Amino acid sequence: MSFIKFNQTLVTTALLVTAVILLLGVPMTEGILTEKHGNLRRQLDAEPSPPQSRVKLLTAGKFAVLSKTGVTTTGTTGVTGAMGTSPISATAMTGFGLIMDSGNAFSTSTLVSGNVYAADYESPTPNMLTVAVLDMQGAYVDAAGRPDPDYADLGAGSIEGLTLDPGLYKWGTNVELTSSLTFNGSSTDIWILQIGGDVKVGSGAIVELTGGALAENIFWQIAGKTTLGTSSHVEGVFLCNTQIAFETGSSMNGAALAQTAVTLDAATIVKTSVCDATVGCVKD
Ligand SMILES: *[C@@H]1O[C@H](CO)[C@@H](O)[C@H](O)[C@H]1NC(C)=O
Repeated sequence: MSFIKFNQTLVTTALLVTAVILLLGVPMTEGILTEKHGNLRRQLDAEPSPPQSRVKLLTAGKFAVLSKTGVTTTGTTGVTGAMGTSPISATAMTGFGLIMDSGNAFSTSTLVSGNVYAADYESPTPNMLTVAVLDMQGAYVDAAGRPDPDYADLGAGSIEGLTLDPGLYKWGTNVELTSSLTFNGSSTDIWILQIGGDVKVGSGAIVELTGGALAENIFWQIAGKTTLGTSSHVEGVFLCNTQIAFETGSSMNGAALAQTAVTLDAATIVKTSVCDATVGCVKD
């Protein structure tokens, strides 16, 4: 009798311990925070997350600057690559001294190395721009929809001085840096930054690439506005839901793809992309 009672106690205890392990086990694993290159990485499961694939820009990848509502410049801006506006017409591109080509399908500017396109130019330009803007919006939706971020709300949006490993980053807030930020990884590594608020890059702040990282593999998806402070420098493809404002002397290696306006002030934009102006995005 007492032997059976002892056994019952043992079994009850074992069941209780098992239940506690089962209850605590899952949240304990999910809650693990590991230190990685000085950043807090949220591990969602024991398996490392698969690397991200590039965001497909398709025909939007032809452009150094693409905007739906206009591009303005003051001072001596330099754009290396093509520029376009749609659905707004060419009158919304100011400060470029645009010279119309004889076929009226594109214009040129001493400030822009590639051709300049607007929705009111001659065929085939309007259709080409309609598709490019749809591709730009598709790329934004693709970037915004990538699930399971590797890092959530890193630095509560203050990413000053951080070194970012490749991966998917998500913030529900503004993202700000005052003087420096580094993307560290190889030429095939991909970064996708999902930003729920604005991006504010401080005056003189410099974004650096190390380890062979390429601007064409860094995608900033910004729900708000982007402001690049005076003399700042950034790297990456900026897919912005609203305006991208370049303050005096600021620069970007990558592309400014804005769903409202792009404003430039003695700014420099150099398109670095696998997409080619004449053949499109061959590697996408
Ligand atoms: C850059 O990445 C390499 C390769 O993953 C790593 O060995 C190195 O520690 C990283 N550097 C920094 C500063 O994070």
